[in-house]
Amino acid sequence: MSLSVTFLGHACWLIKSGEYTLIIDPFLQDNPLAPIEPEDIQDLGYVLVTHAHWDHLGDTVNLASRHDALVISTAEVATMIAEEGVRTHGMHLGGTHDFDFGTVRVFPAFHGSGVPGGHAAGFVLTTPEGTVYHAGDTALFSDMKLLNGVVVERVDLALLPIGNNYTMGVDDAVLATKWIKPRVVSPMHYNTWPVIKTDPDLFKSQVEAATDTRTEIVEPGGSFVLDEQS
Ligand code: NI
Ligand code: MN
Repeated sequence: MSLSVTFLGHACWLIKSGEYTLIIDPFLQDNPLAPIEPEDIQDLGYVLVTHAHWDHLGDTVNLASRHDALVISTAEVATMIAEEGVRTHGMHLGGTHDFDFGTVRVFPAFHGSGVPGGHAAGFVLTTPEGTVYHAGDTALFSDMKLLNGVVVERVDLALLPIGNNYTMGVDDAVLATKWIKPRVVSPMHYNTWPVIKTDPDLFKSQVEAATDTRTEIVEPGGSFVLDEQS
């Protein structure tokens, strides 16, 4: 089992599972931490968008158009993006759908959606190579406990915001990690701007003091492989 995971800064992750390449919240062009340009992305099949705030929607239309990639998001965001002529698959909270790379379950996020009538979301991706939870932008909420053995058997990798101000800060993200009990956790949504300046080592030390979860702090542009030994 191996899943290759690359952090592109802020909440943007590039995930390679088998022959499939997915990007989540592709905020590159205007992202001060992005290590690459949208043009540098290769062989993209899917763009997943947690909500329509500009720092998550980012380069979605550009990337989806260039690669003829399928955009997966909530119905309101998918409808808005479809008007730009890209292929979309609308879903909503609690819904699961099978794609060729694996299954997507749309998980709640407590946050604005950035589009009228919408709701922010996170994603649980279940692939043959492992299960990934991308929390999107969210506050701490106790239904995260369902990610440990109820909606999925176990999360292999949790991607959690720690930057505070707009989302959970370190203390709440540590509590989320205790509840979710992933094998590996990686922090995101910090240090992009001064208002979310946060020390990820503080998160790592608190997680590792309180849980058995390994913390992978990934610099923008950095990658790691999630394997059975992780
Ligand atoms: Ni947001
Ligand atoms: Mn955000």
